[in-house]
Formats: sequence, C-alpha cells, structure tokens
Amino acid sequence: MAVIEVMDLKKEYRIAKKQDGISGTIKHLIHPVYGKKEAVKGISFAIQEGESVAFLGANGAGKSTTIKMLTGIMKPSDGKIAVMGRDPFEKRMENAKDIGVVFGQKTQLWWDIPVIETFCLLKSIYEIPEEKYEKNMREFGEILELDGFLHQPARKLSLGQRVRADLAASLLHEPPVLFLDEPTIGLDVAVKQKIYTFLRKINKEKKTTILLTSHDLNDLESLCQRLIILENGEILFDDQMDKIFEQYEEGTTLEQIVIGLFDRRRMG
Ligand SMILES: Nc1ncnc2c1ncn2[C@@H]1O[C@H](COP(=O)(O)OP(=O)(O)O)[C@@H](O)[C@H]1O
Ligand SMILES: [Mg+2]
Repeated sequence: MAVIEVMDLKKEYRIAKKQDGISGTIKHLIHPVYGKKEAVKGISFAIQEGESVAFLGANGAGKSTTIKMLTGIMKPSDGKIAVMGRDPFEKRMENAKDIGVVFGQKTQLWWDIPVIETFCLLKSIYEIPEEKYEKNMREFGEILELDGFLHQPARKLSLGQRVRADLAASLLHEPPVLFLDEPTIGLDVAVKQKIYTFLRKINKEKKTTILLTSHDLNDLESLCQRLIILENGEILFDDQMDKIFEQYEEGTTLEQIVIGLFDRRRMG
C-alpha cells in the first residue's frame, strides 16, 4: 500500500517585489507589488509502507515546502496528496495521529517546562496507553540517552539533547509515518550516529515509513533504501539506492554520486 501519494503537487508563494533601498521600501508600502515564486513545480511520487526515503536537494530546492505540505502545515497551490489515504491539510487532526514530524531548526517541545512534562502532555493529547508510554520512554530513553536531561526545561538543553528529545516526542504515539526535515543539522558526529541508529531501528522493527531531508549524505546511505533528488522544485532523480550504486565503481560514496549528478545536469 502506498502510504504517501503525491500527484502533480505545486506550491507558489506570493513574494513582495520591492526595489532596493529606502525609497524602494517606501514605494512598496504605498503601492505594494507582488510576484510569484514557484517553489514546487508539479512533482509526483509514491512511497510504500516501510520505505525509508532520502529527500535531497540544494538549499531552496523546495524540500521544506514539500514536507510542510505533506504534514498538513501548508496548503498546496495545486495537485493532490494522500498520507495514509487522507488529505493531510483538510484532515489535519486525524493526520496528526498517524505522523511524526521533526524539524531540526524548530522544536515542538514546550520551551519553559521540563522535557518530561512535554512527554506527559503528548501522552494525553495522543491518548497513549500507560503501558505503551512506559515502554517507549524506556526504549527511547536508552537509545537516545535522554535520562540525563528529562527534568530540564527545553530551553536549557544543548542542540543535540533538544533534537533527541524532539525525536522521542514525535514518536511516542508510534506513528506509522515519520517526516524529518534536517534533523541532524548542526549536530556532532556522535549525536548523529545515535539518531541514525535509532531511525534504522524503528524503520526495521516497526516498519515506520520515513521521509527525511538531510545534508549528511554518507549517513543516509545506511538508512535510506531510496533517493529522491529535487532541483528547483522539480524531481531530478528518483530511484532505489542499490540501483544507483550499481552504476558506479565500487567505493564511490553517495556524496560523490550526488555531486556528479548535479554536475552532469549543469553541463547539459
Ligand atoms: N514563506 C515563503 N515565502 C516566499 N518564498 C518562500 C517561502 N518559503 C520558502 N520560499 C522559497 O521557496 C523556495 C523553496 O524553499 P524551501 O522549500 O525552503 O527549500 P529547501 O528546504 O529545499 O531549502 C526557495 O526559493 C525559498 O526562498
Ligand atoms: Mg529546507
């Protein structure tokens, strides 16, 4: 079954067309002129249950825009999305129960209260049974090493601690689908390893479907079975990881392959 289906998905942003300088700013205040930015230009793909997919592309390619539409945060300009058979924007509440979301640049933890209190709140919001909650807390706590800071407020955590707590928070209700947008940005190698180990485990053991964007190409290799590359709002590449490697000499890294793909494209 396709867990995520995307058909001809588009997103256009309205952007201010402002001339530089103070006079441009004043002119814009009096007579604003707007233009359009096509961030996602009609992309289509389907992701099956249990797949783990890396969503790659340069800055501004449209990855975050796509993830925001898939998670129901943003309404598409055109096209269709079904996540577990539902339109994620129209059915935001139901959709929330089936997905976990982590934005590396943002936190869903309550800033001023101890992390454990956020977890307790999520437990009641998602109506997680006590037993399941305890089991997940034990398991996540162990792999993500949460124990040392569960009683600290989120604002006092280091970036690595915060992302680990966010990851646990997004998975407490055991969603079948997980979206991660640059979850390991700014993290050191040791924390990255913990996170990738954890993601591999839930993908394998719970068959959690994962779609993630990241710049850590060589870490993705061990997690993702498939690669979708976006460029300027269009899909440049979509294939299975092992197929990609087949075409290259042994020992070639994913990073080398992806850079090569971009170069080939640029040269025509
Ligand atoms: N809220 C917004 N308003 C206007 N333009 C935006 C907005 N968010 C993103 N964009 C533009 O849309 C394009 C895609 O952005 P984004 O989806 O964030 O790319 P990525 O996550 O791949 O770096 C970029 O050109 C970006 O500047
Ligand atoms: Mg982004």
